[in-house]
Amino acid sequence: VIMVKIGASILSANYGHLEKEVKKVEKAGVDFIHIDMMDGHFVPNLSMGIGISKYIKNITGLPTDVHLMVENPDLFIPILADDADMITFHIETCKFPFRTIKLIKDKGAEPIVALNPSTPIDTIEYILEDLCGVLIMTVEPGFSGQKFINPMLKKIDRLKNIILKEGYNTKILVDGGINSETAPKVVEAGADVLIAASAIYNKENIEEAVKILRESAKF
Ligand code: DX5
Ligand code: ZN
Repeated sequence: VIMVKIGASILSANYGHLEKEVKKVEKAGVDFIHIDMMDGHFVPNLSMGIGISKYIKNITGLPTDVHLMVENPDLFIPILADDADMITFHIETCKFPFRTIKLIKDKGAEPIVALNPSTPIDTIEYILEDLCGVLIMTVEPGFSGQKFINPMLKKIDRLKNIILKEGYNTKILVDGGINSETAPKVVEAGADVLIAASAIYNKENIEEAVKILRESAKF
């Protein structure tokens, strides 16, 4: 049985009751909290800022993953690293990824690189072994509730083959349009970690929603 990890993206949570919303997914047994930070430049949306990751870290025992959808990640890494267990940066925003990875590691967090749907895998070929994970965006970043982009299954499968062939420990994460229908497909293709916002938070019963997602991803 393949046991995937599940991260709850609070982008679809009720921001007026963040503590309650985080406790709900914690109780439902998710493995970590995914915090989407946007700057209105790299993506056409604004979301949470640095203060939110600090707040979340203080109210939960779960690991946190800050997904930086910003034009200059190096600017923010030093000020948020103390309150993030994992930091995800986009390769499209990064001129010197080895430098960015070092910055994250020096601050004691785990580096994850994210790829937009149309960004080829060979852009990260040489940094792969230095990373804790690769986040394959399965929608264009910026919003929750979008439809899963199907050709990403091919991308996950290719990346998995490279990782296995090279014997790396790098995990594959997926983010965007993940629900009980797409989860089994991405897991079959090689995903190790699922991130979901609307499939968790847009449901009446969150505990049930996490259970359904987890069950759907079992093989
Ligand atoms: C999109 C964010 C995702 C988003 C996923 O830019 O990176 O984390 O919250 O939302 P769903 O699961 O609804 O597609
Ligand atoms: Zn995200």
